Amino acid sequence: MHVTRSDFPSGFLFGAATSSYQIEGHGLGGAGRTQWDDFAATPGNVVRAENGARACEHYLRLDQDLDLIRDGNFDVYRFSTSWARVIPEGRGQVNGEGLDFYDRLVDGLLERGLKPAATLYHWELPSPLLDLGGWRNRDIAGWFADYTDVIMRRIGDRVWSAAPINEPWCVAFLSHFMGHHAPGLRDIRATARAMHHVLLAHGRAIQAMRALGMGNLGAVCNFEYAQAASDSAADIEAARVYDGYYNRWFLSGMFRKEYPAEVLEAFLPHMPAGWQDDFDVIGTPVDWCGLNYYTRKLIAADPASPWPSLREVDGPLPKTQMGWEIYPEGLEHFLKRTHADYTKGLPLYVTENGMANPDVIEGGAVEDAGRIAYIASHLEAVRRAASAGVPVAGYFVWSLMDNYEWSLGYEKRFGLVHVDFDTLARTPKASYHALRRALAR
Ligand code: NOJ
Repeated sequence: MHVTRSDFPSGFLFGAATSSYQIEGHGLGGAGRTQWDDFAATPGNVVRAENGARACEHYLRLDQDLDLIRDGNFDVYRFSTSWARVIPEGRGQVNGEGLDFYDRLVDGLLERGLKPAATLYHWELPSPLLDLGGWRNRDIAGWFADYTDVIMRRIGDRVWSAAPINEPWCVAFLSHFMGHHAPGLRDIRATARAMHHVLLAHGRAIQAMRALGMGNLGAVCNFEYAQAASDSAADIEAARVYDGYYNRWFLSGMFRKEYPAEVLEAFLPHMPAGWQDDFDVIGTPVDWCGLNYYTRKLIAADPASPWPSLREVDGPLPKTQMGWEIYPEGLEHFLKRTHADYTKGLPLYVTENGMANPDVIEGGAVEDAGRIAYIASHLEAVRRAASAGVPVAGYFVWSLMDNYEWSLGYEKRFGLVHVDFDTLARTPKASYHALRRALAR
């Protein structure tokens, strides 16, 4: 890899990222049922109806996996804690074994000289809370704050950073409007409520962690560069609407205490009572902002369909195994815009970036040159943003290892480390070795 640690300012952090349900093996250790177990058990939702019950069995292979992070010369590891592992019913009774696991995880990182970066919610809502309406129910903000308090009383004294919710757009829009993720709804009213409650829960969790005396708290949002499919005014407006509900809604709420007008217009009849009064909680100050970035989308107007009256158009750029176009310029754009329009001086982190590839082991090795090029080109984009004055302070690869790619099951391989899902053997890919050399101190 032509980009190396020395191309970045000293103190710039390099990390690898994962999430609990995608790697741990949710069937282990007394964790409670989640909406993803239920979603996957319903025909048609997930490729081959695969779920996270076994996943990578990280729960049983913790030390081996933490060694891989250390030996990859990373500085920081972004992981998530599972609500249903910590509190199986979502509220009430705590699973001591679950708390012990995260305790060992954090200590294991510290012993290896790695910084623990925790996320509190990466999508595996405990099923009993879905019975109560899940993200549609305003009470979720309080349930989430209570869970935050429980887990952070245990590990909050040793984590380097914490963020409440991974990718609020996926939690709310992808899961309640598009129906692609659990709970698989396609309902504008549920969406409007989830779009708001996810931010309210974020704010309550930040407050809960401040009350415990914690610092270095942030937010992690995902972004897709929305480009109009043509120069027509209608396509340009469609791309603006897409950008509004995907890229600006959550940042606007948290950093400007308002919602983008062109999106709010559609959601207004469905917003929960009193939403206007929640911005002081939603906008509780944070210390940094994380950006997850993978691709761009070409957007065309589709006036015949209801709001948002747009469709995605197939683009011409080279694509990853996900069918996502490779477009590093979008990352530079979002780093600059987030700094200029929202966070104004707070440190920014690229909390996820990477690509899926149909990797195979040949002669004991995995040659994933495409991934090496993808990461290098996005690191170049980060460098460009940094030299333009954006305070970007770190970059995390998604993902440490191949894992459960949600509705797409185990087929889409994002890892720096190959996982054989029969034997669960870990094989570092060429990209892992390239990064290890690039990050050598
Ligand atoms: C974003 C999500 O946070 C993660 O769970 C997912 O696997 C990657 N993107 C790749 O789609």
